[in-house]
Amino acid sequence: MGVALFLHVLAVVIWVGGMFFAYMCLRPVAASQLEPPVRLTLWSGVFARFFPWVFASIAIILATGLWMVYAVFGGFSASGLYINLMFWLGLVMMLIFLHVNFAPYRRLRRAVEQADWPTGGKALAQIRVLVGINTLLGLLVIIIASGGRYLLQ
Ligand code: HEM
Repeated sequence: MGVALFLHVLAVVIWVGGMFFAYMCLRPVAASQLEPPVRLTLWSGVFARFFPWVFASIAIILATGLWMVYAVFGGFSASGLYINLMFWLGLVMMLIFLHVNFAPYRRLRRAVEQADWPTGGKALAQIRVLVGINTLLGLLVIIIASGGRYLLQ
């Protein structure tokens, strides 16, 4: 349980912390200081480096989370409400990420390759909204999973 839990939390920190940094720190500075060709190329490169970490984090979060639920807690019906909420909200976050990766991010990459900045700008705007939602959901799930567990038994 100890190893599963720390791997689980480590993967959560990498995913949610990375989104928080990208959304709250890098995005406003890049938006105010860089012209579209440089800004869109920067983001395409940043996502190319960050998304493999997100795929790895998701695999670890799912494997360790489901292992803890089934091997330690005895299934979802025997687990607390906070664990069930974590699972369903976590699945929503994972679906949002998969959509970002396979739809707008793919469009952004193609647009950058073709120097099509208006199309790239639209794709980046979609990614911004979806990453904003996922950052909020991630923080909410962390609240539910840590402090919230004492309120939601
Ligand atoms: C989607 C599948 C997931 C499953 C099945 C799952 C399951 C679990 C389980 C069983 C625990 C141990 C709870 C305990 O010790 O009482 C746990 C802990 C934790 N989970 Fe998840 N989880 C999932 C996703 C997530 C996501 C997406 C996040 C955050 C974005 C998250 C954040 C945490 C945190 C911070 C803890 C540590 C809580 C603590 O010990 O204080 N989990 N998870």
